[in-house]
Amino acid sequence: MSPTRRDFLRTAALASVAVALPGCAAGSRSDRGRAATAGDLVAPLPPRPAGSPETVARDEAYWSAVAAQYRITDRTTNLEAGYFGMMPAPVLAAYHRHIDRVNRESSFFARTEYGAFAREARERTAAALGVEAGEVAFSRNATEALQTLIGQYNRLRSSDVVMYADLDYPAMQQAMNARAARAGAEVVTLDLPEPGTRASVIEAYRAALDANPRTRLLLLTHTNNKTGLIHPVREVVELAEARGVDVIVDAAHSFGQVPLDLRELGAAWVGVNLHKWVGAPIGVGALYIRRDALAAIDRAHGDEGPLDRIDSRIHTGTLNFAALMTVPDALDFQEEIGVPYKAARLRYLRDAWVGPAREIPGVDILTPDEPGTVGALTSFRLNGDGSRDGNVELARVLREEFGLFTVYRSGPARGDCVRVTPSLYNAPRDGERLVQALAILAERGG
Ligand SMILES: Cc1ncc(COP(=O)(O)O)c(C=O)c1O
Repeated sequence: MSPTRRDFLRTAALASVAVALPGCAAGSRSDRGRAATAGDLVAPLPPRPAGSPETVARDEAYWSAVAAQYRITDRTTNLEAGYFGMMPAPVLAAYHRHIDRVNRESSFFARTEYGAFAREARERTAAALGVEAGEVAFSRNATEALQTLIGQYNRLRSSDVVMYADLDYPAMQQAMNARAARAGAEVVTLDLPEPGTRASVIEAYRAALDANPRTRLLLLTHTNNKTGLIHPVREVVELAEARGVDVIVDAAHSFGQVPLDLRELGAAWVGVNLHKWVGAPIGVGALYIRRDALAAIDRAHGDEGPLDRIDSRIHTGTLNFAALMTVPDALDFQEEIGVPYKAARLRYLRDAWVGPAREIPGVDILTPDEPGTVGALTSFRLNGDGSRDGNVELARVLREEFGLFTVYRSGPARGDCVRVTPSLYNAPRDGERLVQALAILAERGG
């Protein structure tokens, strides 16, 4: 990151009392330091302390300064960061500034200078994912990116099988069903072990692929949204490719939550969003198609663009310009902390409640503790109750009696559960409150 950008991050929030005056925010692309609203006054982000990610993860003074960048409501304690991520104050200020500029300069800006912002957003996103800019195209969310990849995948024949697991995301499971139906192909599903280990998950995929040699397309999630398990994508892609199976990877929950290098994953087709863990405004997702894998994805319906360019694979029409312009600001903030440090802190916050909760009789934690198999998200069941109603009620009681906001999730083969997802605005004490609540509820019988 350039010194200018770093300085911006340190000073933008304080500078943000300079309300956008007419003409103030209309400057060049380097005017990111100008502020939009008076309400974003927070102390600047201090430099990260020295030390390994695991050591820094315990430095409450540093992380409380990071948490102060998030102006989170006090109406509840939010342990449901899995839906979408908050923008920290400097990113929100930048978004306000970009909205103001787009609105004021209108199509003159959109048709002249906006292109350079869009290119920067794409280059920065690709670099953060470890791939080339020409392999990435923006969508409005991960669903749109993955539906594009699944729906336009063109290698499926009626004699083929498509496969997905119980822990994949429902909208993508349905997109796989629809794609199979269009080709007259068969759908096979597998149930992943719970709580899986790296080895047992790999083994489950190996067994399913071996039992279904006609499999042509596999949907594979990196971090699943139901239990929080991080699936061993690189190993499963290797298994699949050795059997001639193509793999579409759903990394919606991984980008910004855990270190993610798409080249290392070895996947050819991936969907992500930037409004969960990267902290960009809502409405930014992206698809990745490896340069040599473009031919397997048809052009978007009605798109006559160049076959050798990813842009012809998705046709969104007008996007939220200001949201895309904010992507580099969000990546700046994330890089200022450092993804490995962010991931270690999230894992620390997760472990802070999971460790003690494991000791409470009646609490079943659905993810393992093995390094690399979990990030911030972890789900649990109480007293063996996997019913929908029971878990909806449990989340309600946590919210209304204990002031802890979580969410129930359905879909794991072994039953529904409650998901807990801390973020950088949480502290270990939030996890301690959850553990106290679980101890009371377990004894009460739910
Ligand atoms: C695993 C997974 N895939 C895809 C999505 C969809 O993401 P988006 O809401 O950006 O479309 C989600 C959202 O929660 C998810 O958890």
